[in-house]
Amino acid sequence: MEYVLFAIIAYLLGSIPSALIVGKLGYKIDIREHGSGNLGGTNTFRVLGVKAGIIVTAADILKGTLATLIPLFFDADVYRLAIGIFAVLGHTYPIFARFKGGKAVATSGGIILGVNPILFGVMVLTFLVSLKISKYVSLSSMITGLVSFIVSIFFGDIGLMIVIAVLTLFVIYRHLANIKRIINKTEPKIKWM
Ligand code: G3P
Repeated sequence: MEYVLFAIIAYLLGSIPSALIVGKLGYKIDIREHGSGNLGGTNTFRVLGVKAGIIVTAADILKGTLATLIPLFFDADVYRLAIGIFAVLGHTYPIFARFKGGKAVATSGGIILGVNPILFGVMVLTFLVSLKISKYVSLSSMITGLVSFIVSIFFGDIGLMIVIAVLTLFVIYRHLANIKRIINKTEPKIKWM
Protein backbone atom coordinates (compact mmCIF):
# COMPACT_ATOMS: atom_id res chain seq x y z
CA MET A 1 0.00 0.00 0.00
CA GLU A 2 2.88 2.39 0.80
CA TYR A 3 4.17 1.92 -2.72
CA VAL A 4 0.96 3.33 -4.19
CA LEU A 5 1.12 6.35 -1.89
CA PHE A 6 4.83 6.93 -2.64
CA ALA A 7 4.16 6.60 -6.37
CA ILE A 8 1.34 9.17 -6.19
CA ILE A 9 3.52 11.61 -4.20
CA ALA A 10 6.37 11.12 -6.69
CA TYR A 11 4.03 11.67 -9.64
CA LEU A 12 2.66 14.89 -8.10
CA LEU A 13 6.20 16.08 -7.34
CA GLY A 14 7.28 15.36 -10.92
CA SER A 15 4.17 17.14 -12.19
CA ILE A 16 5.32 20.50 -10.82
CA PRO A 17 5.96 22.32 -14.13
CA SER A 18 9.08 24.30 -13.23
CA ALA A 19 9.56 25.67 -16.76
CA LEU A 20 5.98 26.94 -16.79
CA ILE A 21 6.26 28.44 -13.30
CA VAL A 22 9.61 30.18 -13.95
CA GLY A 23 8.38 31.46 -17.33
CA LYS A 24 5.08 32.79 -16.02
CA LEU A 25 6.24 34.18 -12.67
CA GLY A 26 9.63 35.51 -13.72
CA TYR A 27 9.09 36.55 -17.33
CA LYS A 28 5.29 36.62 -17.91
CA ILE A 29 5.85 34.15 -20.73
CA ASP A 30 4.13 30.82 -21.36
CA ILE A 31 7.08 28.80 -22.57
CA ARG A 32 4.73 26.31 -24.26
CA GLU A 33 4.06 28.99 -26.87
CA HIS A 34 7.73 29.56 -27.69
CA GLY A 35 10.69 27.64 -29.06
CA SER A 36 10.01 23.92 -29.22
CA GLY A 37 7.07 24.39 -26.84
CA ASN A 38 8.64 21.79 -24.56
CA LEU A 39 8.35 22.30 -20.79
CA GLY A 40 11.99 21.56 -20.08
CA GLY A 41 15.38 23.04 -19.34
CA THR A 42 16.54 23.16 -22.95
CA ASN A 43 13.57 25.18 -24.15
CA THR A 44 13.92 27.44 -21.12
CA PHE A 45 17.56 28.14 -22.01
CA ARG A 46 16.43 28.77 -25.58
CA VAL A 47 13.54 31.09 -24.76
CA LEU A 48 14.37 32.70 -21.41
CA GLY A 49 18.17 32.53 -21.23
CA VAL A 50 20.90 31.02 -19.08
CA LYS A 51 19.67 32.00 -15.60
CA ALA A 52 16.16 30.64 -16.10
CA GLY A 53 17.55 27.59 -17.92
CA ILE A 54 19.83 26.68 -15.03
CA ILE A 55 17.02 27.15 -12.46
CA VAL A 56 14.59 24.97 -14.43
CA THR A 57 17.15 22.25 -15.18
CA ALA A 58 18.21 22.12 -11.51
CA ALA A 59 14.56 22.01 -10.37
CA ASP A 60 13.75 19.21 -12.83
CA ILE A 61 16.78 17.18 -11.66
CA LEU A 62 15.79 17.82 -8.04
CA LYS A 63 12.27 16.46 -8.62
CA GLY A 64 13.77 13.10 -9.60
CA THR A 65 16.29 13.06 -6.76
CA LEU A 66 13.67 13.95 -4.13
CA ALA A 67 11.38 11.22 -5.42
CA THR A 68 14.08 8.61 -4.77
CA LEU A 69 14.26 9.84 -1.17
CA ILE A 70 10.55 9.24 -0.49
CA PRO A 71 10.91 5.52 0.30
CA LEU A 72 14.16 6.05 2.21
CA PHE A 73 13.52 3.26 4.66
CA PHE A 74 13.51 0.61 1.96
CA ASP A 75 16.89 -1.02 1.53
CA ALA A 76 17.05 -1.73 -2.17
CA ASP A 77 17.81 1.03 -4.65
CA VAL A 78 15.43 -0.65 -7.06
CA TYR A 79 12.40 0.50 -5.01
CA ARG A 80 13.72 4.04 -4.92
CA LEU A 81 14.35 3.97 -8.67
CA ALA A 82 10.87 2.56 -9.27
CA ILE A 83 9.32 5.42 -7.25
CA GLY A 84 11.57 7.83 -9.16
CA ILE A 85 10.05 6.65 -12.43
CA PHE A 86 6.72 8.09 -11.30
CA ALA A 87 8.38 11.50 -10.93
CA VAL A 88 9.62 11.15 -14.51
CA LEU A 89 6.07 10.30 -15.60
CA GLY A 90 4.80 13.35 -13.71
CA HIS A 91 7.40 15.56 -15.36
CA THR A 92 6.48 14.22 -18.79
CA TYR A 93 2.70 14.05 -18.35
CA PRO A 94 2.06 16.65 -15.59
CA ILE A 95 -1.39 16.79 -14.04
CA PHE A 96 -0.74 20.51 -13.33
CA ALA A 97 -0.07 21.39 -17.00
CA ARG A 98 -2.66 19.53 -19.05
CA PHE A 99 -0.42 16.43 -19.23
CA LYS A 100 2.01 18.09 -21.65
CA GLY A 101 5.41 18.28 -20.03
CA GLY A 102 9.08 17.69 -20.73
CA LYS A 103 11.10 14.99 -22.45
CA ALA A 104 12.17 13.05 -19.34
CA VAL A 105 15.88 13.88 -19.48
CA ALA A 106 16.66 16.01 -16.41
CA THR A 107 14.26 14.21 -14.05
CA SER A 108 15.64 10.82 -15.16
CA GLY A 109 19.11 12.14 -14.42
CA GLY A 110 17.83 13.26 -11.02
CA ILE A 111 16.69 9.80 -10.00
CA ILE A 112 20.09 8.37 -11.00
CA LEU A 113 21.71 11.11 -8.88
CA GLY A 114 19.55 9.92 -5.98
CA VAL A 115 20.83 6.33 -6.09
CA ASN A 116 24.20 6.44 -7.86
CA PRO A 117 25.97 9.84 -7.90
CA ILE A 118 29.03 8.36 -9.67
CA LEU A 119 26.91 7.21 -12.58
CA PHE A 120 25.22 10.62 -12.61
CA GLY A 121 28.68 12.20 -12.91
CA VAL A 122 29.44 9.94 -15.88
CA MET A 123 26.12 11.02 -17.41
CA VAL A 124 26.89 14.73 -17.02
CA LEU A 125 30.32 14.22 -18.57
CA THR A 126 28.87 12.18 -21.45
CA PHE A 127 26.24 14.83 -22.06
CA LEU A 128 28.76 17.67 -22.13
CA VAL A 129 31.18 15.83 -24.46
CA SER A 130 28.32 14.84 -26.82
CA LEU A 131 27.04 18.41 -26.78
CA LYS A 132 30.48 19.83 -27.50
CA ILE A 133 30.84 17.50 -30.50
CA SER A 134 27.30 17.44 -31.91
CA LYS A 135 25.81 20.79 -30.74
CA TYR A 136 22.45 18.98 -30.46
CA VAL A 137 20.92 18.86 -26.95
CA SER A 138 18.40 16.25 -28.04
CA LEU A 139 21.01 13.91 -29.56
CA SER A 140 23.27 14.40 -26.53
CA SER A 141 20.36 13.48 -24.24
CA MET A 142 19.78 10.21 -26.10
CA ILE A 143 23.50 9.37 -26.29
CA THR A 144 23.74 10.00 -22.55
CA GLY A 145 20.95 7.49 -21.95
CA LEU A 146 22.63 4.84 -24.11
CA VAL A 147 26.07 5.38 -22.56
CA SER A 148 24.63 5.33 -19.03
CA PHE A 149 23.02 1.98 -19.80
CA ILE A 150 26.38 0.55 -20.93
CA VAL A 151 28.14 1.99 -17.86
CA SER A 152 25.40 0.65 -15.54
CA ILE A 153 26.41 -2.90 -16.59
CA PHE A 154 29.72 -2.39 -14.75
CA PHE A 155 27.89 -1.69 -11.48
CA GLY A 156 26.43 -5.21 -11.63
CA ASP A 157 23.02 -4.00 -10.41
CA ILE A 158 20.31 -5.60 -12.53
CA GLY A 159 17.60 -3.28 -11.15
CA LEU A 160 19.61 -0.21 -12.10
CA MET A 161 20.25 -1.64 -15.57
CA ILE A 162 16.56 -2.34 -16.19
CA VAL A 163 15.46 1.09 -14.97
CA ILE A 164 18.07 2.85 -17.13
CA ALA A 165 17.09 0.75 -20.15
CA VAL A 166 13.41 1.67 -19.65
CA LEU A 167 14.21 5.35 -19.10
CA THR A 168 16.51 5.49 -22.14
CA LEU A 169 13.87 3.94 -24.39
CA PHE A 170 11.34 6.43 -22.99
CA VAL A 171 13.71 9.37 -23.59
CA ILE A 172 14.23 8.20 -27.20
CA TYR A 173 10.44 7.85 -27.64
CA ARG A 174 9.97 11.41 -26.35
CA HIS A 175 12.56 12.65 -28.86
CA LEU A 176 11.02 11.12 -32.01
CA ALA A 177 10.19 14.58 -33.39
CA ASN A 178 13.77 15.71 -32.63
CA ILE A 179 15.16 12.62 -34.42
CA LYS A 180 13.11 13.50 -37.51
CA ARG A 181 14.42 17.07 -37.37
CA ILE A 182 18.03 15.87 -36.99
CA ILE A 183 17.59 13.68 -40.09
CA ASN A 184 16.00 16.59 -42.00
CA LYS A 185 18.74 18.90 -40.70
CA THR A 186 16.15 21.26 -39.19
CA GLU A 187 16.94 20.56 -35.51
CA PRO A 188 18.44 23.72 -33.95
CA LYS A 189 22.06 23.48 -32.82
CA ILE A 190 23.35 25.33 -29.79
CA LYS A 191 25.66 28.22 -30.59
CA TRP A 192 27.34 28.87 -27.27
CA MET A 193 29.56 25.79 -26.92
O1 G3P B 1 15.71 17.70 -22.69
C1 G3P B 1 15.00 17.96 -23.85
C2 G3P B 1 15.99 18.14 -24.98
O2 G3P B 1 16.71 16.96 -25.18
C3 G3P B 1 15.34 18.59 -26.24
O3 G3P B 1 14.49 19.67 -25.99
O4 G3P B 1 13.22 21.69 -26.57
O5 G3P B 1 15.08 20.93 -28.07
O6 G3P B 1 12.97 19.64 -27.98
P1 G3P B 1 13.89 20.53 -27.22
